[in-house]
Amino acid sequence: MNPKTQDNLLKAMHGEAFAFVKYTLFAQKARQNGREELAALFETTAQIERLEHFAEEAELAGLVGNDDDNLRDAIQGESYEVDTMYREFAEQASAAGDADAAARFAEVGRDEMGHRDAFKAALQKIKLAR
Ligand SMILES: [Fe+2]
Ligand SMILES: [Fe+2]
Repeated sequence: MNPKTQDNLLKAMHGEAFAFVKYTLFAQKARQNGREELAALFETTAQIERLEHFAEEAELAGLVGNDDDNLRDAIQGESYEVDTMYREFAEQASAAGDADAAARFAEVGRDEMGHRDAFKAALQKIKLAR
């Protein structure tokens, strides 16, 4: 596939995934406000973003591989979040005086470390079982 198309697929999937989670939260809010019909509209739409739009684009992009590939992909993603993204976001938020955001970024970064380590252990387990 053309690299630009592949890149656009990734961007589109990020948008669809974000819309899925956002609409799920919007539905929660609408339900709290007693607007069941609006909650259902957000939820139905969220499901289409996830199960149709994201899933179909993921299929085209070849997102899902075998378990080894998926674990390696997940380890790479979590490692980036731990070593680069959340580390830098926490530093930048702290430097900008956004203490709450800095603390949140640091805490999430620690969670991602746990995810990374669990994925590493799972990959090791698969390798040892062969
Ligand atoms: Fe969509
Ligand atoms: Fe994670």
